[in-house]
Amino acid sequence: MNLVRMGVAAAALLVLASAASAADPIVIKYSHVVAENTPKGLSALKFRDLVAERLGGKVKVEVFPNSQLFNDDTVLQAMLLGDVQLAAPSLSKFEKYTQSLQIYDLPFLFKDMEAVEKFQNSPAGQKMLDSMAKKGLLGLGYLHNGMKQISASKPLRVPADAAGLKFRIMTSDVLAAQFDALKATPLKKPFSEVFTLLQTRAVDGQENTWSNIWSQKFHEVQPYITESNHGVLDYLVVTSAEFWTGMPADIRKEVKKALDESIAYGNKTSHEIAEGDRKKIADSGRTTIIQLDDRQRALWVDAMKPVWKQFEKEIGPDLIQAAADFSKP
Ligand code: LMR
Repeated sequence: MNLVRMGVAAAALLVLASAASAADPIVIKYSHVVAENTPKGLSALKFRDLVAERLGGKVKVEVFPNSQLFNDDTVLQAMLLGDVQLAAPSLSKFEKYTQSLQIYDLPFLFKDMEAVEKFQNSPAGQKMLDSMAKKGLLGLGYLHNGMKQISASKPLRVPADAAGLKFRIMTSDVLAAQFDALKATPLKKPFSEVFTLLQTRAVDGQENTWSNIWSQKFHEVQPYITESNHGVLDYLVVTSAEFWTGMPADIRKEVKKALDESIAYGNKTSHEIAEGDRKKIADSGRTTIIQLDDRQRALWVDAMKPVWKQFEKEIGPDLIQAAADFSKP
């Protein structure tokens, strides 16, 4: 090839390369820690599919379930570094970035998911979405999982049954205080380690939703589950402000629309999944589900509710009252 022809070929290559990069889609890596057959797993896949359908070629969503990419202890830092664009850690896992979400961990504050949703849709609940803006993180919406149950290696009928046991918890000081109140020992550990911790008896129990218990097979290594419904496990779908505001406005609008729809889908299916997975766990014969009578339940409330007072100053008594009002009969 003579020099002129080489120059022409190189120039053509350059044109091609720049055309390819102009057409390169915006990639949204969505990292989460649960299985795909859970409300969060299904919502993430729905988002991926909606974006492919509507913005194919312009935006590409890649979903990484099961802590494949990051666990919840590292994902927010990775997000600020630009290594991941979307995640939905549980509201219990934002303590390093904001204290305002601690309210969701207060035991027996919300009587069911309807009360949670009403609070989240209130001005106070919506304001919390922006509580980490100064730290570079934006809350894009609340995604549901469900109410938590307590599983253990022995039957827990009254709070005294939990005394002296070790429980895996999410990284939340409120949850630590909740197990301290039972005179139990809380251990903050990543979700990906829970099955092994339970199987090897490194911990005696844990608290989680029906869908997480089922999809992680915790019921196969925990002979008892107390149907306590004592707390909520909900998520904040979160992104980095830098990434989000860096997207062209028209594309951002479409991405948000798809995300909102996928969240609504996840939230709708969360009720059915909770019921279905509870039934599958009961039918599996691998564990015993303990239902509390009114007297026993009152004892759990009495044991755990003092945690509200402990965190009243950080969270704000008015906010706690406002949230509690949504659970009034
Ligand atoms: C947990 O760590 O137990 C949960 O936050 C996992 C999840 O994302 O539901």
